[in-house]
Amino acid sequence: MDTLEQLVVQAEEEFRSAGDSAALENAKARYLGKSGRIADEMKQLGKMAPSARKAHGAVINGIKSRIEGALVARREQLARQQLQQRLSAESIDVTLPGRGSSRGGMHPVMKTWERVEQIFASIGFDVAEGPEIENDWNNFTALNNPENHPARSMQDTFYLDDTDAEGKRLLLRTHTSPMQVRYASSHPVPIKVIAPGRTYRVDSDATHSPMFHQVEGLWIDEAISFADLKGVYLNFVRTFFETDDIRVRFRPSYFPFTEPSAEIDVAFGSGALKGRWLEISGAGQVHPNVLRNMGIDAEKHIGFAFGSGLERLAMLRYGISDLRLFYEGDLRFLSQFN
Ligand code: DAH
Repeated sequence: MDTLEQLVVQAEEEFRSAGDSAALENAKARYLGKSGRIADEMKQLGKMAPSARKAHGAVINGIKSRIEGALVARREQLARQQLQQRLSAESIDVTLPGRGSSRGGMHPVMKTWERVEQIFASIGFDVAEGPEIENDWNNFTALNNPENHPARSMQDTFYLDDTDAEGKRLLLRTHTSPMQVRYASSHPVPIKVIAPGRTYRVDSDATHSPMFHQVEGLWIDEAISFADLKGVYLNFVRTFFETDDIRVRFRPSYFPFTEPSAEIDVAFGSGALKGRWLEISGAGQVHPNVLRNMGIDAEKHIGFAFGSGLERLAMLRYGISDLRLFYEGDLRFLSQFN
């Protein structure tokens, strides 16, 4: 192979082994630059006989343009490689789940709250909400819980240092029952209302939390009986738990504001809790003293009431064993309900 052919082969080799464009441009300078190999060859032309000069010049130009062709080819190859590297280094996996789309959901206790409201509203009960900071008249005294009566200590109360405008002692309501007094004092009979809300007691274990939720129910009319209360409550639990295979019983109990008083127990006909009586509510006939404290004629009217724990209802509905799970804020738990 003559030296010019060799020059092409060498240039191609050097271009091929140039791993990036900087190395390639250096290689280019060695062959096509001002003092490169092709320029050297051109200089030799001057020493040649004029007759040979033209033909040899054409040969050198041919060699030059082949080297230039090799250079351009290698440049393009390097550019493609560089693009490929970038594409794979900066690659985006379009199948990955998006990051900005996490959605909030309803807390299971709030879902229970809404469900209870819907069920009672559907049978004509009004829905009322009252303050979590109550006075001791509404929370205790009007509910037939006289001052210094030992029954007050059935509920370990969070007291505030303040009193209200009328000098009544303030506390975090220990139950939703004060809403009976608030509502019945400001609405005419007949009364059919539920009052769901937050309540507070100095209590904390697997089945008690210092803040918890109740729903109060109050029905005051002229000719109603325990049978009506039982019918309403049975309809409620059947709808709430989505089964007719459930029994309700009223077990005698004591509350200062009802006489007679009862605990409402339910028993499921199937499932993990099958056949076990579970307490889910207090209830009773509103005590005549309480009706009078509401400004209602206790000779003419009769009232029935209940107070049920929303956590209890949620735990039974979802099969939750520890009430504290509701309040730990663990999304692995909470996100199961949406
Ligand atoms: N307030 C009671 C409690 O928290 C529950 C209760 C019992 C409410 C009987 C009622 C009732 O309305 O009639 O323990």
